[in-house]
Amino acid sequence: MIKSAAFVTSNTDYKKCPPANKPEFAFIGRSNVGKSSLINMLTGQKKLAKTSARPGKTQLINHFIINEKWYLVDLPGYGWAKVSKTQKAKWGPMVSDYLTHRENLACLFVLIDSRLEPQNIDIEFINWVGEQGIPMALIFTKADKQTMNKTMASVALFKRTMKNTWEDLPDMMITSAESGVGKEEVLNFIQEVMDN
Ligand code: GTP
Ligand code: MG
Repeated sequence: MIKSAAFVTSNTDYKKCPPANKPEFAFIGRSNVGKSSLINMLTGQKKLAKTSARPGKTQLINHFIINEKWYLVDLPGYGWAKVSKTQKAKWGPMVSDYLTHRENLACLFVLIDSRLEPQNIDIEFINWVGEQGIPMALIFTKADKQTMNKTMASVALFKRTMKNTWEDLPDMMITSAESGVGKEEVLNFIQEVMDN
């Protein structure tokens, strides 16, 4: 259960992030997939993380402290064509250095739009995360935008696609920041990771 949630810092460099002495859970995925909205849904604070209908809103590594014991981290998205070249050039090292060096990263949630067929950019990113040995789970977002049957079919297709290259598939969850679907499941997942 989340009793308190507060913004801590925004950084471009993982070395300047808060001390790595508490478990942390980060959210990544394509721009506009709903990372910031999911953080707000999980914490029950609509304006904690900044969201926008326009992709490219989150540009920095944002730490939020939860129950004064662990962190949620909002990251900038990938794959947005309209981001400037300089922004794009910065995204790579900023995010990949954070992901590969942050010792207290307990799990990276990779968000996938539940309405789309498997996208190469997501598969490639997920494969890279797997190669780096970063603990990961997948979250299929925006489930309110279509029937649960369609969402389940998307997840099944994603699993089949991943099975081409993956032996043990990561955990997968379905969420909606609108309806709150998946809130308990994600929070229980986080709790289990911390208990282990
Ligand atoms: P960047 O920071 O740009 O990478 O995007 P983001 O992944 O943080 O997305 P954000 O949370 O800002 O949401 C993008 C848009 O999608 C906003 O207009 C949200 O209101 C909308 N959105 C996010 N999650 C959901 C959801 O579960 N359901 C619906 N219907 N809309 C959502
Ligand atoms: Mg965002």
